[in-house]
Formats: sequence, C-alpha cells, structure tokens
Amino acid sequence: MRLSFASTASTLAAALLLSGPAPAQASLAKSSDLKTLYEALADITRAPSEKHLAQGQQLVGLSSDPAQPGVQWSVQQAQQVVLQSGDLNAPSYKLVTNGEKTAGSSAASPAAASPASTSSSGSSNSNPGITNADSALSSSSFSPVNPPSFPLAVRSPYLNAWLPSGSNRASTPPNTVGDGGYLAGQWPAFWTSSYGADGEFRLGWTGYIRIDNVTYEWMGNGFGTLVRAGQAAKQLSAQYTATRTIFAFEADKVRFNVTFLTPITPNDYLRQSLPLSYLHVELDTTTIKGRSIQLYTDIDERWVTGHDYDYEDFPYDQQYYEKNDTSVFFVTRKHPEVYTEFRQRAEWGNATYAARNHTGLYSRNNNNIVTHTEFIDTGKLSFDHGPVLGPDNSFAFAVDFDAKHADKDALFVVGHMRTPYVNYIRAKNPGTNSTKSYQEDRYGYWQSEFGDKLEDAVAFFMNDFENALETAKAFDKQVADDSRAAVGGGAVGDKYAAITQLSVRQAFATFEITISRDSKGRYNTSDTLLFLKEISSNGDMSTVDVIFPLFPLLSYANPNLLRDLMKPLFEYTESGLYPNKWCVHDLGVYPNAFGHNDGNDEPMQVEESGNMIWMTLHWAQLVGKSKALPFLEEHYKIMKQWTEYLVADSLIPAEQLSTDDFAGTLANQTDLAIKGITGIAAMSRIAEMLGHSKDAKSYANISTTYIKQWQTLAISHDASHTKLAYQTDASWGTLYNLLADRMLDLSLVPEAVYKIQDAWYPRVQEKYGVPLDSRHKWTKTDWEMFAAAASDDPATHKLFIELLYKFIEDGKTDAPFTDLMESTTGDFPKQPEDPLIHFLARPVVGGHFSFLAKSKADKANGVASGAYKYGNDNDVISNKTSATSEAAGKQAAFQAPMHVGTPDERRKKSNSLSSGSQRAFQIPA
Ligand SMILES: *[C@@H]1O[C@H](CO)[C@@H](O)[C@H](O)[C@H]1NC(C)=O
Ligand SMILES: *[C@@H]1O[C@H](CO)[C@@H](O)[C@H](O)[C@H]1NC(C)=O
Ligand SMILES: *[C@@H]1O[C@H](CO)[C@@H](O)[C@H](O)[C@H]1NC(C)=O
Ligand SMILES: *[C@@H]1O[C@H](CO)[C@@H](O)[C@H](O)[C@H]1NC(C)=O
Ligand SMILES: *[C@@H]1O[C@H](CO)[C@@H](O)[C@H](O)[C@H]1NC(C)=O
Ligand SMILES: *[C@@H]1O[C@H](CO)[C@@H](O)[C@H](O)[C@H]1NC(C)=O
Ligand SMILES: *[C@@H]1O[C@H](CO)[C@@H](O)[C@H](O)[C@H]1NC(C)=O
Repeated sequence: MRLSFASTASTLAAALLLSGPAPAQASLAKSSDLKTLYEALADITRAPSEKHLAQGQQLVGLSSDPAQPGVQWSVQQAQQVVLQSGDLNAPSYKLVTNGEKTAGSSAASPAAASPASTSSSGSSNSNPGITNADSALSSSSFSPVNPPSFPLAVRSPYLNAWLPSGSNRASTPPNTVGDGGYLAGQWPAFWTSSYGADGEFRLGWTGYIRIDNVTYEWMGNGFGTLVRAGQAAKQLSAQYTATRTIFAFEADKVRFNVTFLTPITPNDYLRQSLPLSYLHVELDTTTIKGRSIQLYTDIDERWVTGHDYDYEDFPYDQQYYEKNDTSVFFVTRKHPEVYTEFRQRAEWGNATYAARNHTGLYSRNNNNIVTHTEFIDTGKLSFDHGPVLGPDNSFAFAVDFDAKHADKDALFVVGHMRTPYVNYIRAKNPGTNSTKSYQEDRYGYWQSEFGDKLEDAVAFFMNDFENALETAKAFDKQVADDSRAAVGGGAVGDKYAAITQLSVRQAFATFEITISRDSKGRYNTSDTLLFLKEISSNGDMSTVDVIFPLFPLLSYANPNLLRDLMKPLFEYTESGLYPNKWCVHDLGVYPNAFGHNDGNDEPMQVEESGNMIWMTLHWAQLVGKSKALPFLEEHYKIMKQWTEYLVADSLIPAEQLSTDDFAGTLANQTDLAIKGITGIAAMSRIAEMLGHSKDAKSYANISTTYIKQWQTLAISHDASHTKLAYQTDASWGTLYNLLADRMLDLSLVPEAVYKIQDAWYPRVQEKYGVPLDSRHKWTKTDWEMFAAAASDDPATHKLFIELLYKFIEDGKTDAPFTDLMESTTGDFPKQPEDPLIHFLARPVVGGHFSFLAKSKADKANGVASGAYKYGNDNDVISNKTSATSEAAGKQAAFQAPMHVGTPDERRKKSNSLSSGSQRAFQIPA
C-alpha cells in the first residue's frame, strides 16, 4: 500500500488519516436533497422528454444534512461562463463542498474541494462544458476515415464501449449523440448508443491532463456533467486499425497520444478469452521539457449495470488490489443477478479498472465530484478505497509525470468479467429419445488459468501489454495488407481495408470462448465451446443464420473458431432433445441456452440446414481433409438428415423465412433455393471426402438436376436478372448465396448466371448500396460483400466496395457499424418508406471479410486467380435465351448495359423499357 503518497495528497486525505482507522467515507453527505441533486446531474444527459425533474426546479439552496457523515455540500448560485462560441454555459448553479465530517466526529475538517465552476444544465451547445470547443473540437484529421462510431473497448457483448461520431455534427436529421469524432466533450457509449436502449447508454470514462495547474479534458464529458466548465485538449487526429483506435492531442503545446487497444488473438484462446482492453497514454517527450504534467482517468459504475438512478441505496461493492505491478478496482453489484440482462448489460460480474505500476500513481474511489475536483485542484488523488455510497462514482487513477524517474507513458486496463458466463442445455442421455436435460454452467476460458482470481487475470493482461501491442500491430498490418490484396489493391483496396478494419473488433466482441467444469470442479479445456450473441436484432444465442454471415472473418482469422462455434449446435440437434428434422435456428436467448425442445424456434428450414453444411465443408477445406475427417464423420448423420430436407424443399422452397426475416416470409425464394441446392452439392463433397461414394454421387446428381431447373424458374424472361421469387418476373434480389458455389469450388452454377448478376447490380444501385431486393430500398452490408465476392469481375467488386465505403464515410448514423441501412439515405431504415429498424454492433459485419475468406478457400482448393471452373455444363439459360429470343441473341443476355447513369436516369430508362413487353425491367417504386 502506498499511503505515503496519499498522506501528502490533500487536506482531505489528511483529514481522513487524522480521523483514525475508520474506513474512508468521503462521499457526499446524505440529506433529503441529495436525490434531487443526483437527479439534476443525471438530467443533464437525459433527453428533454426523459428528464426526471420538472423544468425550472429550484436547485440553489439544496444542501447536505449536517448531522450526516460525509462531505458536506450545498448548491449555490453560479457565475455565468462564456464559451468560446459566445454561448453562455447554462449558468444556474454550482456545487460547493465544505469539508468532510466523519462518523462519530462533529467537527468538519477544512474545505477539501470547492469546484468554483458552473453547470452546463440545459446548455444547447453540443459540447456542454467545453469552453474552447471551436478550436479544440474542430479540425482533427481522420484515418482511414471518420466512421459512424469508433470502437474504444469492444471485446464482449458486455464490454462494448464506443465513441459515437457521425461525420457531420450538423447533419440532417441531426445525430443524436455523436459529435463528429471527438473524444472529449461526450461520454463513450455502450453499443446500444441512443438507439433502442430504453435508458442510460453512456459509460462514465474520463480523461484529464493537467499541465502547469490547468486541467484539460481529453475523454468523456466531466466538464459538461459535473458542474464545472473547462478546456478540452485539441484533438489533432483520430485513426483506427483492426485492433486499435488512436487519438493524438495537443494541450498548451504539450502533445500526447491515447491508444485504445483491444487485442485479437484468434489462435490463442487464453488471451482471446480475457474480457479486457487497454488504454495507453504516451507523452511526446519532445514537448514536455520544464512542464508540470499529471494525468487522470476513471470509470463509473455504469460499466457493471444498466441501472441508472432508478436504484434504492445504490448497492455496489468495490474491491481494490495491488498485485504484480497492477493496481486494480473491481466493482460489482451487491446483489448480482446471474444470467440476467437489464438494458442489454449483464447484471452480474465485475467491472474492472486497473493501472500499471508507475512512480507517482494515485488511486481513489468516491463520488465523482469529489475525485474530479481533487485532481483538478491538486493534480493528485487521496489514497481512499472506501465503500461505494451513492451513484456517480469514480474508480479513479492519477499519474504524476513530475515524479522522479517517472515513465512518460501510462497504461490502464478496463474490463467486464463474469463468472459464470452462460448456461447451456445438455441432454442427460444424449442420442436416446429421452428428453431429460440439465443446464450446465459455462465459464470464460481464461478461468482455466486464473480460476476465481480475477485480479491475477488482470495483472497477467497488464503485464502482457508489450507483447499484445506487437502482436496487434502485426495483426493490423496483416488485415490491412490482405484486404488490399484480396481486391487487387489500388484505391478500391484502400477502401476495402477501411471497411474490414472497422469490422474486426465489433465482430469478435459478439462471441465468447467458454469451458465447463468437471465433476471435481476443475476447468475443462477439452470441452471448449463458443457461444454468440446476436446483439441488436434480438439477443438470440448462437443463431445459425447470424453465425453464417460472421463466418468469413472466422475462416480468415482461424477456421477452428468457426468449428467451435458450430459445435454446440451440432451437439444440441444430435442430442435427441430437438424434434425437427431441419437444423435449429438458435439455442436460446443470451446468456441462457435453453434450446427449443418444443421445436417452436423461428423456422428457417432451408436457411439453417444449408448454412451448417456450407460452413462445415468450408471449414474442412481450410483445415484439410486429414484434420477434418473425424469431425465430418461424427456429424455426418445429422448433416445427411438435413440434406434430405434440402432435397425435399430447396428447388421449390415453400413459403418460409430466409435469414432476412425482417422482410417476411415468401415462397419460391430464388436465393434461398441456391442456398439449398449448393448445400446438397456441398454434402456431396463431404460424402466424397468420407468415402461415402453412393451418397456423393446421388447428391451430385440431384444438385446438378436442380440447378438446371432452377435457371428456368429463377431467371427473368429477358435473362436480365435473377428474380426475387419465381412467380414474379419483375422482382429481383441480391444473389448473395452464389458465394457458396464460388467459394466452395462446387462448379455447379454456370458462368452465365454470374454474368447476369454482374450486369444487373449497377442498374439498380442507389447512393449507398445495391438494395437487398425489389421490395425495399434497404440493404444488408454483409450480403453486399457476399454478392461482391461471389463475382470474379473487378467492376462488381469496385461497385459494392465504393458504395459501402461511402456509407461509412458519410456517417449518417452515429452508431456502431450498422449492417442494415437505407441504400438511398445511408441512414437506418425508417418511416415513411420502411419500418424503423436498428441493426448495430452485430456479428454479421464479419461478412465483410468475404473476399479474404474466398482467397483463403481458393488457396486451399487450388483455384488459381481467374481460373475458377464454372458449372457451364449445367448452363440452360444461354440456350434458352437464344432459342426464345433470336433478336436478342445469346450475347445480349450477358452484356452489361453500356450506360449506367444515375439512379434516376436508370429508373426513367427502365420505365420506358417497361412500356413494351419487357416487364422485367420495371423496378417497383
Ligand atoms: C501551480 O500551483 C502551485 C501551487 O499553488 C504553484 O506553486 C506553482 O507555481 C503553480 N505552477 C504554475 C506553472 O503556475
Ligand atoms: C502520436 O500520434 C501521431 C499521429 O499518429 C504520430 O505521428 C506520433 O508519432 C505519435 N506520438 C507518440 C509519442 O506515439
Ligand atoms: C505475478 O506474475 C508472474 C508472472 O506473470 C506470475 O508467475 C505470478 O504467479 C504472479 N503472481 C501473482 C501473485 O499473481
Ligand atoms: C510498484 O512498485 C513499487 C516499487 O518497485 C513497489 O514497492 C510496489 O509494490 C509496486 N506496486 C505494485 C502494485 O506492484
Ligand atoms: C467480483 O470479483 C471479486 C474479486 O475477485 C469476487 O470476490 C466476486 O465474486 C466477483 N463477483 C462476481 C459477481 O463475479
Ligand atoms: C426414438 O424414437 C423413434 C421414433 O419413435 C424410434 O424410431 C427410434 O428407434 C428411437 N431411438 C432410440 C435410440 O430409442
Ligand atoms: C412457386 O413456384 C412453382 C414453380 O414455378 C409454382 O408452381 C408455384 O405456384 C409457386 N408458388 C407460389 C406461391 O407462387
């Protein structure tokens, strides 16, 4: 313990020490007014319609009860502060503290902290409390692009902190939260951001730097919400890579960088499973000579609960450890609710904030007005780790860079650690018809190494930083280089790399690596299963058609991640507990995998069965036959059962949902049929690998017969496009399941079909994408990348990549990467065109790696660049068009339109064409 630091820290600390061994209780003293004060502080960040206090509520005059222990306080009239913009910083009140009264003593100690500043309540400025917003938060550069939201600590479904951005502060409609990509002046947000969360989404996470006694804010909105106004450090640049988000700042000529690093180690399950993330601050030593510099950072209790001020007694516990060069806070609910979410947060487990040992390191937890004020006034923190006594806490560290021999950087770790993680249904007597089952508790893989010693896991992670940073830099470079190469480099390559790099942390944060305990309570790493949360579409667990669009990233990073994510689905459907003959849709609602023993899961018969077979063959091709055979053999029986279902239902798919369930059910879905038919062909390959040659032959025959019939049913009369559904000639859709044929090297679908789609997409493209199908203008970014990667035509690649890049560049939302957007506006689907849907932070952005997965598959399958063998033996459409339309001739069907034009021009052209007999050109408005 370092009470020696603390004893000189402040008069408040001195008072605490003098008061003897009683635990520090320097929270704000209670009174009937305290709740009103907290509500007033909370109202600063609440939307106008959600404020708890009536407008005009008088705050001046509120005060503590002198009979209560704690920091005495009162609310007084404040002076107005003029912001640089000329606006007044909503001057109404200031909170004045007046010393600490400890339990059992009646004499208040000298004033400890007096924040002589003002509140920002009601300010209309987009950066309340920042007095120099116009210069500090205005001219950052962004690289590779300013995205809708920056990942900060995005590691698990419950450690998911973002910086809402939106490229345009004055966009119409206005971004509700994002301030244009500046770290200071707003609070980081949980993934829910302001969308779809029925309450608080901010995460208290603060950064200050104090230079020659003046404090500058570089992260969070302390100045806007803690009854104080001040300056922000000038943000010079913001940059993201696959694993890092890096900000460069300058304050009073001192330069420093702030790096958020969430390591991705696909081949190292121990490290990958640690639900922790780094914050690294580095001073530019060429700019600090002769300067006095201190650093402050904290988190609040919002990292461990979705509850805000709606709690009686604020029942949190904190624990503080110093171990192995690591000082660490754990914050947990006093009464955790295991396996329960509230507002998408886990209401059990520990939030953690830790600092690497540093000469001149201070730590304190207390009400955040107390800790912020102490730092701003003194540059230090008292060594005070008392009980948590109210809302709005700081779990805070300060670093004094003036201390002798102090390093000129500082390292912190933030995390959210649950034990257990999830629960999972297992059959008591698997493989029988018995429906007896139990729910098994499953734990983070890291517990195999650290057991229940959370502090050891944090210390390990802390001390692993240098290694983690090197590994991360190599991984970042690999993702960027491979992305560029996969689409032929150049400007398109750069744009594609911007898309993939933004997708990595989001996707990796949606699944967790778990293990069970054996009968003796030992953690069992030979029983490693991954589980996934759908995130915003709903909280479904291990949804097959959400794992499916994620798979390209997994197969790129480590194909065995994909296998281990599919394992529980195989096991459950094979256990005898699931009654349907097709593959189950999901395993439950995160974190509860109760299964669907009644068979009433969302029915996606062809979709899920086809997906599992596709992904299994793809995995087998990547790891190689010899490694794959045992797994294939083990699950052959159930895959065969699913294939029988595909044989029955995929040429003429009955009315059903596809993965795009928001669009409703439909019969005869062309793209779904492709999924089923390629699924049968994929099963033929699996049978072949296993030496089941009779099955292999039979499935090959069926898929070949089907693909021929499919062409007659699926392609429009004029052979200009594939239809959305067989029965509507004018309908069309993105044929993203074509990727199965191409990626799995099935040589089933003729080149003509690919060419038709290449020619069609530019005709229907909109400003931000190619619509998913003719029913709506919305599009799915994952399916766009699937469709693009299915093609070997660089023009198709360029088309889709440039549109998606434009979407992230224009930043019309301020949310984590949204995969469903209106292709005309780049915003969420919304009224009047479409229902309002917020898909964000979902795993499916892994689908943006389709090109990389395809490259890897091509390598494994021996497909040389440009040498894919199409299924031209199965081509019936070329013959059909030349037979039915002599004038058009065989070529016409495959030719790209000469002039693409703007969407409006194309619509006009289409309408004029549709006035003739060629109804196929009509694009439903
Ligand atoms: C900062 O404050 C301390 C204590 O009040 C004072 O001694 C010092 O001169 C100040 N430094 C600067 C650069 O103003
Ligand atoms: C800080 O970031 C800038 C911009 O990326 C870079 O040029 C500089 O070298 C970095 N400085 C330190 C100290 O890391
Ligand atoms: C401290 O770290 C070392 C090296 O990582 C490890 O061997 C040791 O067990 C750790 N000690 C504690 C008390 O956690
Ligand atoms: C930090 O370093 C000092 C000096 O080496 C040592 O006394 C102290 O125990 C260390 N603290 C932690 C948390 O390891
Ligand atoms: C939080 O961490 C502490 C310290 O390791 C531990 O005692 C406690 O059980 C943890 N709480 C939960 C809910 O995991
Ligand atoms: C399970 O039930 C089915 C149908 O009732 C039966 O055909 C099958 O043999 C049973 N399986 C086992 C392992 O008992
Ligand atoms: C589906 O397509 C088949 C084959 O063309 C057709 O017979 C059937 O009527 C279609 N179903 C619907 C609902 O249109």
